[in-house]
Amino acid sequence: MVVRQFRYGNDNLGYVVHGKTEALAIDGGAIGPVTRYLEENGLALTMITNTHSHSDHTVGNDALMTRDTRLITPEEAAGAGEIIVEGHSIRVIPTPGHTLDSVCFHTPGFLMAGDTLFIGKVGRCFSGRTDLLLRSIRTLMTLPGDTVLYPGHDYVEEYLGWCRTLEPKNRHLDQAMRLYDRSDVRSTLGREKLVNPFLHMDNDDVEEALKRRGLPRESIGERWNSLLGLM
Ligand SMILES: [Fe+2]
Repeated sequence: MVVRQFRYGNDNLGYVVHGKTEALAIDGGAIGPVTRYLEENGLALTMITNTHSHSDHTVGNDALMTRDTRLITPEEAAGAGEIIVEGHSIRVIPTPGHTLDSVCFHTPGFLMAGDTLFIGKVGRCFSGRTDLLLRSIRTLMTLPGDTVLYPGHDYVEEYLGWCRTLEPKNRHLDQAMRLYDRSDVRSTLGREKLVNPFLHMDNDDVEEALKRRGLPRESIGERWNSLLGLM
């Protein structure tokens, strides 16, 4: 399986997952570049899906549609549990929180996380269910640490800057910033554990940051909601 990232709009990131002849578009808003890529590589776009139903993610669906393309909504994808591309299974992980229909897609080695998990932060909780978002993030963090994190937006500079305001002494942030490449926006789950405060809430520096701001920090749930409130 090949996973290719496509940038569109201000900071949106979509993906094409493909084998030798068949491709799946995930948030395929980069209509021109995606179409060209499919043509140049002799790929048939057999399926289109989305990480959630926000319009900046679904914006390319209609234009990419051909007679042979099937649109799979996030709900359908979650219900099926997997999407098969050329005999390879792409696991669909329901991750409600950012929206109730949010899903992430996992192929061995890669996680397309939409607006659920970003480099440096988690997604805004538009569903209002911060408990569900926490549970979803915990599910994602059971995947291997060397799994590539492919997010739904490039917010890297802004979010790592935000991380630095919380943990000025965290040297992993310097390394994450050095590795930032606008043309291939990625992290790994292992690296995120070191830079993203939502993923190491038991850390003393995170506790100290919340304490300085006078925010609740006794339980994991309190820390989680306090961090979300700072976004
Ligand atoms: Fe979104």
